[in-house]
Amino acid sequence: MRTALLWAARNPWLREHVPELPFAERAVRRFMPGEHLPEALVAADELLGEGVGILLTRLGENLAAITEADEVASHYHGVIDESARRGRPPEVSVKLTQLGLDIDAEVAYRHSLELARHAARAGTWFWVDMEGSDYTEQTIAFYERLHAEEPRTGICLQAYLRRTAADVARLLPHQPAVRLVKGAYDEPAAIAFRDRAAVDANYLGLALTLAQAAGAGGARLALGTHDAELIDQLALMTDAAGIPRSALEVHMLYGIRADQLLRLRAEGFPAFSLVAYGEFWYPWYMRRLAERPANVLFALRQILP
Ligand code: FDA
Repeated sequence: MRTALLWAARNPWLREHVPELPFAERAVRRFMPGEHLPEALVAADELLGEGVGILLTRLGENLAAITEADEVASHYHGVIDESARRGRPPEVSVKLTQLGLDIDAEVAYRHSLELARHAARAGTWFWVDMEGSDYTEQTIAFYERLHAEEPRTGICLQAYLRRTAADVARLLPHQPAVRLVKGAYDEPAAIAFRDRAAVDANYLGLALTLAQAAGAGGARLALGTHDAELIDQLALMTDAAGIPRSALEVHMLYGIRADQLLRLRAEGFPAFSLVAYGEFWYPWYMRRLAERPANVLFALRQILP
């Protein structure tokens, strides 16, 4: 089921036609307050009222032409300006292919650096999402360069990739900000753990290494997972090691396990919700379905009257 859904996420015909179906938009509402920034900001304000920090992302990836990157960058500059007007400004999280990485990497870099500097001036952060494994090395090298010029930047690393322990060791001397996730794409066994227990074990080990650095002030760590039970397991170890909970941020996606996010916040972990919006939600939504096949039943129920 997971493989089929991730195939459907990449299929160009489905990508074009599914979003036109009336029920599809109803189903996606579960994970996305709306397609436009104002709707995301209303949801963000509610969460901020509950003490939850916000990350904003406009959905989109793999542009057709590099000129589209100018529009994407200018949209995010507007988001940062809007953020600066708020007491606790939202952070922004962007896919590099949304800024044209696979068409002209230098254009993507120029936009990223300008956005990162703008975000830092506004008192907030710029995060780089991690895409499929075709982009992993390029994204990490990109982040090394970006972070050297603007430290208030973060990168997402995926625990399902076998290489990630080496990537953590490579980045740690530079005091990075890392959002550790399990990984959302369909990767082959040669480069990725495909067994759930192996991914969880790798996640735990990597999180502990990063937590030690974060506890000593040498990194910012965001646990990008809804696996609250795994976070509880990690907390047993970090509490015993004397690492303050304030060093372990928990980042979850809007609409998923919000009760657990609030519970973890109450237990001392800084909590963030990543609120997505935008018209190009199809591949992103399919990856959410793939994460939990029960979501497919929920989506199918939207077809029924
Ligand atoms: P896991 O899949 O084990 O789920 C744990 C529990 O959470 C499940 O039992 C279920 O209850 C609940 N749950 C998880 N997913 C759900 C869903 N879709 N619907 C309903 N319930 C669900 N990936 C990536 O490759 N690159 C990236 O840049 C990012 N960025 C990112 C940011 C943030 C803030 C988060 C939280 C996640 C990402 N991801 C990501 C996605 C990540 O790789 C992963 O696919 C999902 O988080 C699902 O895995 P979990 O860690 O939640 O664990």
